[in-house]
Amino acid sequence: MTRHTVTLIPGDGIGPETSAAMQRVVEASGADIAWEVAEAGAHLMDEYGTPLPEATIEAVKRTKVAIKGPITTPVGTGFRSVNVALRKALDLYVCLRPVLSIPGAGGRYDGVDLVIVRENSEDLYAGIEFEEGSEAARKLIAFCEEEGAGSIRPDSGISIKPVSVTGSDRIVRYAFEYARKHGRSLVTAVHKANIMKHSDGLFLRVAREVAAEYAGEVAFEDRIIDACCMNLVVDPTPFDVVVFPNLYGDIASDLAAGLVGGLGIAPGANIGDEYAVFEAVHGSAPDIAGQNKANPTAEILSAAMMLDHLGACDAAERIRRAVRLVYAEGAHLTGDIRRTTRSDRPAASCTEFTDALIAAIVTLD
Ligand code: NAI
Repeated sequence: MTRHTVTLIPGDGIGPETSAAMQRVVEASGADIAWEVAEAGAHLMDEYGTPLPEATIEAVKRTKVAIKGPITTPVGTGFRSVNVALRKALDLYVCLRPVLSIPGAGGRYDGVDLVIVRENSEDLYAGIEFEEGSEAARKLIAFCEEEGAGSIRPDSGISIKPVSVTGSDRIVRYAFEYARKHGRSLVTAVHKANIMKHSDGLFLRVAREVAAEYAGEVAFEDRIIDACCMNLVVDPTPFDVVVFPNLYGDIASDLAAGLVGGLGIAPGANIGDEYAVFEAVHGSAPDIAGQNKANPTAEILSAAMMLDHLGACDAAERIRRAVRLVYAEGAHLTGDIRRTTRSDRPAASCTEFTDALIAAIVTLD
């Protein structure tokens, strides 16, 4: 069996708990992984002066593959998102989030099997912002006025939304290539091109150009983001591969996770041409951190995606089969799933759920 070296970033909040569970399950799956632990998060500020030390970025560059727990980002003020910085530093331009029904997880629908492909490097997440009242904001407001672009109130904070031809082309192309590789038949591009003609309009134009190259092989449609949210809630089952600019993709990921049982089971990956960082959709869940209550399924399914990426597909499939078994059996599910399914059975701890999953893996084959 091939041994793979992977960088493990446990993160903060529930991250260390879900990451420890994930490591145990990956080891039980038979995959041969050498873990290189690297740190990131608010707790490093005192020692390193940054929540994302250069050594952590270097570690991922060395191993090329990482799996990370969530990392808290202060709201409104404080340092910028470590997650966004990591995606930028490694040019992880694809955020891939499969949304799959797991029987027993309390989803609103059966048979959901869609894949969110979210652009990960530009749009309102570019981090180009001007503080209200700053000299730069004043200059920008004056410039917009001069150009006849429209008037902005002088007490405005401003965030810039860049959407490029290059960025749009590579994400839409990734969605079509993913569809081709995985035998999927439809790509939906989501936008608000009717209002934002030079950003979302550009995204849509490029999407149509790329789609034309796949005509006859993969079908294409586009939807406006607000209508798309309504369509997803009414019936997500017709969706297949859905490609979004960054912000809409972020919001739709949580929405879609809610349709199949919640954030506790929603996995994901950030992928670039050279590196890949796997992580759950959810955040650091400070409300339950350190209490052994977190559902580690999302990080465990992210690890299964990582094993596929590394070519350890049998181990990945063993994990997914065991997850389906544990949910179908329903005796050891965490509190988030108990609430979704409105069950009055006692909630399993993170550790109890993980033990049940490992026991299920052992019974496979
Ligand atoms: P969150 O995803 O951490 O939590 C939302 C709700 O879902 C909470 O009630 C939480 O208890 C629950 N939840 C989330 N994951 C769960 C799990 N595995 N098991 C059981 N319950 C779970 O979102 P929130 O509260 O908006 O963000 C908290 C922090 O996480 C923020 O600082 C945010 O910036 C950060 N964040 C980090 C991400 C990352 O590292 N990739 C992604 C999203 C948010």
